[in-house]
Amino acid sequence: MLSRTETKVWPVDAVAPFPHDLDPAIHILRAGGLVAFPTETVYGLGADALNPSAVARIFQAKGRPPDNPLIAHVSSLDMAFTLLGDAEQRPIVEQLAAAFWPGPLTLVVTRNERIGDLVTAGLDTVGLRLPAHPVAAELIRLLGHPLAAPSANRSGRPSPTLPEHVLVDLEGRIDGIIDGGPCSVGLESTVLDVTQWPPILLRPGGVTPEALRAAIGVAVTVDRNVHTSRVEDDGANPVRSPGMKYAHYAPKTPLVLVETEIADADRLVAIAQQYYTEGKRIGLLVTDETAAIGFEFPTLRMGPRSQPDMIATGLFSVLRAVDLETFDLVIVEGIEASGIGLAVMNRLRRAAATRIV
Ligand code: TXA
Ligand code: MG
Repeated sequence: MLSRTETKVWPVDAVAPFPHDLDPAIHILRAGGLVAFPTETVYGLGADALNPSAVARIFQAKGRPPDNPLIAHVSSLDMAFTLLGDAEQRPIVEQLAAAFWPGPLTLVVTRNERIGDLVTAGLDTVGLRLPAHPVAAELIRLLGHPLAAPSANRSGRPSPTLPEHVLVDLEGRIDGIIDGGPCSVGLESTVLDVTQWPPILLRPGGVTPEALRAAIGVAVTVDRNVHTSRVEDDGANPVRSPGMKYAHYAPKTPLVLVETEIADADRLVAIAQQYYTEGKRIGLLVTDETAAIGFEFPTLRMGPRSQPDMIATGLFSVLRAVDLETFDLVIVEGIEASGIGLAVMNRLRRAAATRIV
């Protein structure tokens, strides 16, 4: 059983945090506690990655399955190399770090024994990320250790992009939240396995496959799980990124995802009508372009189809907003799965109870 603790909230300057303002959080992390903090992607739930009992608390607080590994966040390339177990992977880490760090890219590398089995869920690899957010960077630098951090949501819920989201999910279960306001990218980092060549994209995110290709000169292999909804480990094709096995990002209200690369209001209306005749209270979650047409059903907007990065930034907030309404079902309009749209569609496919292709 997890004993209830008071969750403190510390406001900080998100652009240029005073080191002094991070003192209470550092104090708690050194004592083995849990602190949520802003990154450019989503809020993370941090613990000292070199303290196994602190790391164990993360799994408890989130209700996270123990076979799902955590990312080790670092504040420098040197700190990343302290966990690297295979010197042959140094050049590719250096090359990708030069292009994308600090930033929303996690590199899965062969690990050494400095990082414990709890962080890596017993795998012989570890995910490394150097976040760009000034608060995250300063926090790790001051701690002087890698910071193990999953997204700061209850397991299965949409990731938090505001401190309020963290409070709703984890109040009383963690020691504190550093309030740095909203996250700019809004979707989690891209997870790239660099133990293979070409590297394997395990989770699409803030860094697109197109940008990775431009940096390393070859197309990354996209893991088959990226395009599907929930993934089963069928033995023959083991799940490379254990996080892919679990339901994720889902509001409590069931979502019906309509995959369409163009704004197609007629099709959405036809599908909504069909559910409506079954007596269901229907909501729509559509792009701004489609919303502009006007519907007889209550409509939430996800942002402009013409600017998918704006859809990414607001996606988790609007998925949480769905549960504040009283819908039995929400019909969601898909977007084109390229660029950042690949990450948006990956999250929507995994959040959806039903997919209409
Ligand atoms: O943007 C982000 O990555 C955020 C912020 C807080 O940095 N963190 C985040 O962590 O999204 P989490 O734990 O929610 O997702 C990490 C993903 C999971 O799908 C996990 O399975 C995968 O990365 N992962 C971590 N270590 C791995 C490893 N060694 N091999 C394969 N996949 C790994
Ligand atoms: Mg997560």
